[in-house]
Amino acid sequence: MLDERAKSFRVGLIGCGRISDIYLKTLAKFHEIDVVACASLDIEESQAKAVKYGIPKACLPDEIFADAEIDCVLNLTVPAAHADVSLRALKAGKHVYSEKPFVTDFADGARILDVAASKGLLVGNAPDTFLGGRWQTVRSLIDEGVIGKPTGVFAHVGTHGTERHHPNPDFYYARGGGPLLDLGPYYLTAMVFCLGPISRVAGMSRRTFDRRMIENGPRNGQWMPVDVDTHSLSLLEFDSGAIGDMTMSFDVWDSEAPRFEIYGEDGTICIPDPDPVHGANVFQGDVLYRTRETARWTHQPRPVGRDAWQVANNRHGFNEDSRGLGLLDLALAVSEGREPRASGALAYHVFEVMAAIEKAPREGIYQSITSRCDRPEPLPLNFKKDLTETSHAC
Ligand SMILES: NC(=O)c1ccc[n+]([C@@H]2O[C@H](COP(=O)([O-])OP(=O)(O)OC[C@H]3O[C@@H](n4cnc5c(N)ncnc54)[C@H](O)[C@@H]3O)[C@@H](O)[C@H]2O)c1
Repeated sequence: MLDERAKSFRVGLIGCGRISDIYLKTLAKFHEIDVVACASLDIEESQAKAVKYGIPKACLPDEIFADAEIDCVLNLTVPAAHADVSLRALKAGKHVYSEKPFVTDFADGARILDVAASKGLLVGNAPDTFLGGRWQTVRSLIDEGVIGKPTGVFAHVGTHGTERHHPNPDFYYARGGGPLLDLGPYYLTAMVFCLGPISRVAGMSRRTFDRRMIENGPRNGQWMPVDVDTHSLSLLEFDSGAIGDMTMSFDVWDSEAPRFEIYGEDGTICIPDPDPVHGANVFQGDVLYRTRETARWTHQPRPVGRDAWQVANNRHGFNEDSRGLGLLDLALAVSEGREPRASGALAYHVFEVMAAIEKAPREGIYQSITSRCDRPEPLPLNFKKDLTETSHAC
C-alpha cells in the first residue's frame, strides 16, 4: 500500500558524474522511483547518462527546477555546489536528496532546513550506507544488548587520497573537501545511528602536501592545489556519555589500523577494514563481536563455506553498494508523513560536528555541539529483502 502511494515519485538528477552510476543502478530496482530527467554542467555528459540508463530527458539544471512534474531533486553535484542546488530545488517546491557533505558552510545548512520546513518539504542526505546490512547488523547487536551499555568508539581510515582513482579529484582538495568532510560523514553518521548525537569535540589536523598530482585518466600528470588539511584527528563525546576517537586521512600510504570498533560494558563490536580499496564506508561486510562470555570473535552473519559470510544468513538486506536507498526511504517518508532516516537534521548535526572538529585546533578548546537529532530508526527486518537476496557476499 505504501509502495503504491509512493509510486511515480519523480526524480530529477542534477550532477551526472562518477557517483551517479551507482545511484541510477540502485534506483532502477525500486518501482516507487522514476528518474525522469538528468542535468549537469555538461550537456553531453547528461545526454550520455540519459542514453545509458534510459532517462527520458537530458537537460540543463534550470529545466529540472522549472519542471512541475518533478517531485524531488537528486543532487549529485560537487560539494561546493550542494547548498546552492539544494536551495534552488526547495525554492522550486521540490524535495531534495543530496550527496555528502550536506553543505560546506554551516549557515547554508540551517537555511536549507528552514526553507524545507517552511514549505513542508523533506530533505535527505547521503551517506545512506548505515541503511546497509552491515550497519543494521551492528545496530541490532547494540539494541539487543549484546555488548551492554556502549562506552566508546574508534574509527580509523588511512588512505592516500583520490588522485589515483578519480579522473577529476580537484574537489577533494578544495574547500568542502579533505578527508574529514569526504570520509567523516560515513563514520560520524554510523556513530550517531548507533550511539546517538554528539555533544562535544576536539581536533587536530595538518596538511602534508601543498599540491598533489592527478595520477590517472586524461589529466594524468596535472598538479592540483591543496586548500584543505589532509590528516585529521578528533575526540568525540556523545550525549550518552560514550567517548570516541577518529582519524581520517588522505596522507597515509598504508595501515593495518583501518577499522571501526564500538566498546561496551560487556563486549566489543569490530568492523574490520570498512573498505580496503578506498577506506570509505560501505553497505556490506563482516561484523565481529566478542563479549565477556566468549573467548573468540563471533561472526555476524555466521560464516559459511569459503565466503566470509553469507547474505542468506543476514536478517538485513542491502549487502551490496546500494547508494540511493536513502532516496527510496525519503520517497516512502513523503507518503508516510515522517522524516526520512538519512535526514537533513542528521546531516546538519554531522556537518556541525565536522565544522567544530576543524575549528577546535584554531581555537585550542573543546567545541560544544548545539544541534541534536534522534537516532534514525533501523530499517524494518527483511525490508525489500526480495531485491537483495541474490546479492553475493563481499
Ligand atoms: N566519486 C565517488 O567515489 C564518490 C563516492 C561517494 C560520494 N561522492 C560524492 O558525490 C558528489 C559527486 O561526486 P562525483 O565523483 O560524481 O563528482 P564528478 O566531478 O564526477 O561529477 C560532478 C557532477 O556535478 C556536476 N556539477 C558540478 N557543479 C554543478 C553545478 N553548479 N550545477 C549543476 N551541476 C554541477 C558536474 O557537471 C558533474 O556532472 C560529491 O559530493 C562527492 O563527495 C563521490
